[in-house]
Amino acid sequence: MQVPPLSPVIYCLLALPILALLLRARHGPSREKVIKPTEERVLLLGASSGVGKDLALAYAKRGAKIALVARRAAALETVKDECLALGLAADRILVIPADIRSPPDLVAVRDTIVKSVPSTRTLLQIAGVDLIPEPRPTGPHPRLVPAEDLAWVGPGGAYNSATSLPTCAGLEALSAEARACSEINFVGTVLALAAFIPVLTVSSACPAVHHLSSVAATIAAPRRCIYSATKAAAFMAVESARVECEGAGIRFLSLLPGTIDNEFRTKTAFATSGGNCEVQAGVKAGWTEKLLLPPKKVVDTILSQLALPTAPYPVIPYPPFSWVSGLCVPPKSQFYLPFTYKLVTLLNLTPLGYMYVEPRARQKYGLRP
Ligand SMILES: NC(=O)c1ccc[n+]([C@@H]2O[C@H](COP(=O)([O-])OP(=O)(O)OC[C@H]3O[C@@H](n4cnc5c(N)ncnc54)[C@H](OP(=O)(O)O)[C@@H]3O)[C@@H](O)[C@H]2O)c1
Repeated sequence: MQVPPLSPVIYCLLALPILALLLRARHGPSREKVIKPTEERVLLLGASSGVGKDLALAYAKRGAKIALVARRAAALETVKDECLALGLAADRILVIPADIRSPPDLVAVRDTIVKSVPSTRTLLQIAGVDLIPEPRPTGPHPRLVPAEDLAWVGPGGAYNSATSLPTCAGLEALSAEARACSEINFVGTVLALAAFIPVLTVSSACPAVHHLSSVAATIAAPRRCIYSATKAAAFMAVESARVECEGAGIRFLSLLPGTIDNEFRTKTAFATSGGNCEVQAGVKAGWTEKLLLPPKKVVDTILSQLALPTAPYPVIPYPPFSWVSGLCVPPKSQFYLPFTYKLVTLLNLTPLGYMYVEPRARQKYGLRP
């Protein structure tokens, strides 16, 4: 019996894994070989709770020197006690209460670390807030645009009832939340970059800047519109700083996680209780199994990504290509968690964004798909 010849397409498909193996990245030594975990010196902005606190504990276990920054001094002292209980020496941890919106606070933080934690190597910008947009204080489901029941707009666009429109007080409240959220998530991040990048570059080998961004920075998030916009602004600020600082030897990393299984969404720009938490609201069955990221996974990913070698590596790891510096790239500066969200950003470039991604996003936040 004669075997039918394989088509060239099949040959190409079979060759792909071999090609991938041959082109596998050949990195230099890991950053943790250059800076041993006990020699790590970390400035952690937003260390009083959530991922920042978890990172502080992880660095404490490794014996790093840590400076903890956030507004709540008492909460920072508790984090410090937990770090000490893990065996970290008292002279390796510093508590510096500060508000990242405030230039005098940031200068004071900088003066303290220059004096007490010289050669700080890693800046972790974790601080951020969520918010509840509530233009219609009387509405059962506070939302920025009440499209859920378009009945409030009658035929021809006439308003059905003046009572369902946002009141002046509602808009004032929204304005205050939007400004507060922008000031922390965006302005605070820009100020932190400006205040600390020069310190890292001057005093440290292998400096790194990590920003805890969010999937909402690149994928539209209904009912999170102001949060999403402020995270997008901060994300682009960090990306622009990265492009600007090319050649200065700094490793930039933005982690873009989905929803993390912690208390973040129960807070607002003004309070540590309240919030608008779709998980607690139980809008989707099976949240815990499928959509919630364990905080440990977020921390482990940040640490493993920051451990990658910082030196650019050749895209084609064979001479003469590997000798051409223009064919070398640094490790990735953006990392989605889970990876599915990276694929979603690609889907969004196609009609499937409208047909599939956007209905799923509305459903995730408890709206009609
Ligand atoms: N949890 C999630 O589902 C999720 C998902 C994606 C991305 N993220 C991002 O993760 C980051 C951390 O959030 P988290 O989940 O760890 O929640 P969190 O427990 O609320 O942590 C936020 C931290 O930011 C600090 N902070 C807020 N405003 C500050 C200010 N003006 N100055 C200094 N520090 C400030 C808070 O401390 P003080 O209140 O003491 O100042 C706290 O330590 C945020 O940027 C958020 O956008 C979270």
